[in-house]
Amino acid sequence: MKPRSSLLTEKEKSCMKMNWLVTLAAVCVLVPSVHCATGSGWCYHDASCNDTQWGTLFPSYCAGNRQSPIDIVSASATADSNLTAFTFTNFNDSSALTKIANTGKTVKVTLASGVQISGGGLSDTYDSLQFHLHWGNGSSVPGSEHTVNGKRYAMELHIVHSKATYGGNTTLAVKDSTGLAALGFFIEIMSGNETGQPAKWNLLSSYLSNIITKGSSFPIPAGISVDDLLVGVDRAKYYRYLGSLTTPTCNEAVVWTLFKDPIKVSKDVIDRFSTTVRITDTSSQYMTNVFRSVQAAQSVTTQSSSSTSGYSLGLMCPESCSGEGLEPLTLVSLHSMVLLDRYCQQRRCCQAEHSKMKLVFNGCD
Ligand SMILES: *[C@@H]1O[C@H](CO)[C@@H](O)[C@H](O)[C@H]1NC(C)=O
Ligand SMILES: *[C@@H]1O[C@H](CO)[C@@H](O)[C@H](O)[C@H]1NC(C)=O
Ligand SMILES: *[C@@H]1O[C@H](CO)[C@@H](O)[C@H](O)[C@H]1NC(C)=O
Ligand SMILES: *[C@@H]1O[C@H](CO)[C@@H](O)[C@H](O)[C@H]1NC(C)=O
Ligand SMILES: *[C@@H]1O[C@H](CO)[C@@H](O)[C@H](O)[C@H]1NC(C)=O
Ligand SMILES: *[C@@H]1O[C@H](CO)[C@@H](O)[C@H](O)[C@H]1NC(C)=O
Ligand SMILES: [Zn+2]
Repeated sequence: MKPRSSLLTEKEKSCMKMNWLVTLAAVCVLVPSVHCATGSGWCYHDASCNDTQWGTLFPSYCAGNRQSPIDIVSASATADSNLTAFTFTNFNDSSALTKIANTGKTVKVTLASGVQISGGGLSDTYDSLQFHLHWGNGSSVPGSEHTVNGKRYAMELHIVHSKATYGGNTTLAVKDSTGLAALGFFIEIMSGNETGQPAKWNLLSSYLSNIITKGSSFPIPAGISVDDLLVGVDRAKYYRYLGSLTTPTCNEAVVWTLFKDPIKVSKDVIDRFSTTVRITDTSSQYMTNVFRSVQAAQSVTTQSSSSTSGYSLGLMCPESCSGEGLEPLTLVSLHSMVLLDRYCQQRRCCQAEHSKMKLVFNGCD
């Protein structure tokens, strides 16, 4: 029932209408997951070990010439038709987030095995190992690592992946110039005065009070999927460049993907990160300004304009979706039914409701 053609004709665009059923089957294979190698002896705040010193403390690789993060200059991003849609496997699994931990440098969530990505111009399938966050000082001081045209967002979410062929052995992955893949999502303060939004971000941040000190961790109860956290992001629109880990030892092994749309999170939820977790014990300072300064520019690519603006269409979701953070009519620009298929599968309510969706192309009744 899924059309095979990758491009629609003008005629199809103007007169097409269809009902679409998302079929769902549970896939839940949960195995303890692997941890990423981390450096030690570095910090964000003391002059003796902050990021101005990393190049000296860790000459290989923090002093290299393919370092992250960078400022993305959107006008300089060149078109690459290889940057197709991703396939996200088990991002919809609400038991995939297993543990939340305070590492003293960030808040890290371990993912169950079986969460993976492929496509997106990547050469291989990559296992999703963990995600963590970077932030400044609450909603008042932004703390994303990457910036876009000089703009720093409130926070940045990094989902860290390792090439599946390495079986989670990150020691091997960091020796490969594309051994790791990181998905970066910007987090922006939601406008208006709503609190506790989105609901799953509110729930995730409620666990911070269980991991106040460095080294503490807390098992995450089932109920949050990775998709739940990526609200409002069109995952077909992103920037790509080759860079590094943004913390020592800064290995130059990362294929970076930065999604253009930010995730909108209410101010109170953002503030919780800089007012709950601490860098060592209960009397130490709060974890704030946990991001590296921008590094030398790298060449950045993005989708060719023809692949993201072929035409516009409307995506209708059923009544049962309202209140789920999805507008009843979301305008998207996608060039093929295959992309649209994936776009819809990423939408939480469409999955949660196992529902029928109606696709209406602009210009048709
Ligand atoms: C997740 O999505 C996949 C592919 O769309 C589907 O087969 C699976 O049943 C979904 N799982 C859940 C828990 O919704
Ligand atoms: C890091 O230390 C240097 C001095 O070595 C200081 O100038 C700089 O402001 C510090 N940066 C941060 C973010 O604390
Ligand atoms: C797209 O991928 C092909 C095959 O890997 C490669 O030869 C080509 O240079 C890539 N195109 C761009 C614009 O990077
Ligand atoms: C963060 O902001 C709070 C409240 O504005 C302030 O009291 C605190 O000193 C700030 N912390 C840092 C490290 O700037
Ligand atoms: C990773 O691979 C290396 C080289 O094969 C091996 O020495 C090391 O024990 C492996 N690490 C883990 C955690 O399996
Ligand atoms: C939130 O904003 C709306 C519209 O500006 C206002 O009517 C409402 O009173 C505000 N609510 C709170 C709790 O401040
Ligand atoms: Zn990171």
